[in-house]
Amino acid sequence: MPLATGLDILQAARAGKYGVGAFNTNDLEITQAVLEACEAARSPVLLALSEGALKYGGKPLVDLVLGMGREATVPVAVHLDHGSSFESCVRCIRLGFTSVMIDKSHEDEATNIAETKRVVEAAHAAGVSVEAEIGRLGGVEEHVVVAAEDAILTKPDEAERFMAATGADFLAVAIGTSHGANKGKGRPYIDHKRIREIAAILPHPLVMHGASGVPAYLVERLNAAGGQLKDASGIHEDDVREAVQHGIAKINTDTDLRLAFTAAVRETLLAKPKEFDPRKILGPARDLMRQVVAERIEVFGSAGKA
Ligand code: G3H
Ligand code: 13P
Ligand code: ZN
Repeated sequence: MPLATGLDILQAARAGKYGVGAFNTNDLEITQAVLEACEAARSPVLLALSEGALKYGGKPLVDLVLGMGREATVPVAVHLDHGSSFESCVRCIRLGFTSVMIDKSHEDEATNIAETKRVVEAAHAAGVSVEAEIGRLGGVEEHVVVAAEDAILTKPDEAERFMAATGADFLAVAIGTSHGANKGKGRPYIDHKRIREIAAILPHPLVMHGASGVPAYLVERLNAAGGQLKDASGIHEDDVREAVQHGIAKINTDTDLRLAFTAAVRETLLAKPKEFDPRKILGPARDLMRQVVAERIEVFGSAGKA
């Protein structure tokens, strides 16, 4: 079936109080894992490609993801994650993406508004949805490492001004999450009051970046197989569930898939030193990623919504 727009999928999610995963993909196996889990659970999904993914896989990767998305039996949007410029967004719109993110959250408010508005005009003319961001997450943001203390949580009044001025379709908010596998000591604090305040003003679907759960079992398997991931921590499932009840509709997940992939590859190489068939190495990684996506779908509440 034709690809869905991001907005089609996310408006239904916000209205129905469930979350939809935006899973980052970089290759065949990740894309298969995500789509197979979503089809098994009858869940809609966004397949997200970052600029790093585009650089890594180029047009062949884009064509693979678009083609697999169109073949899927559940609604799929193909989304640019953290687009850094108007040109980058336009390139993806021309390639056939149905959703783009313009991330000028590190710029001043006026610049963020002006650049986002430009992308909205081009994207909407092509029937493509736009995600924008205000506030600043900790972790790696815009390819720059942002210390947790430099994160700036999204202010509700700014969010209201920003969405009215830009016409963007959904909004990434900084509410305590951060990218990567080290989201802070203990259980990272999520500002649920802030989510409620923003959602009370804005009817738009809200987006949680840096939402990976970094499950302990994956970190243990990774490290038991020779990995060296220290001080790993993720967003508690209950915080994701609560955030979804209050307006978060799109939940970005990349790190959990990276952990699953690497844990499974390490385990195979350790257990089968004589193996050199890539399919026997990548296949178990795909299986574990599929399981992780299924677990995420359960937390988001998107099963049966396709
Ligand atoms: O938020 C960023 C995503 O995890 C993508 O990361 O730019 O390394 O592909 P990447
Ligand atoms: P994680 O690093 O928590 O998986 O977040 C990914 C993300 O926000 C992609 O935009
Ligand atoms: Zn992100």
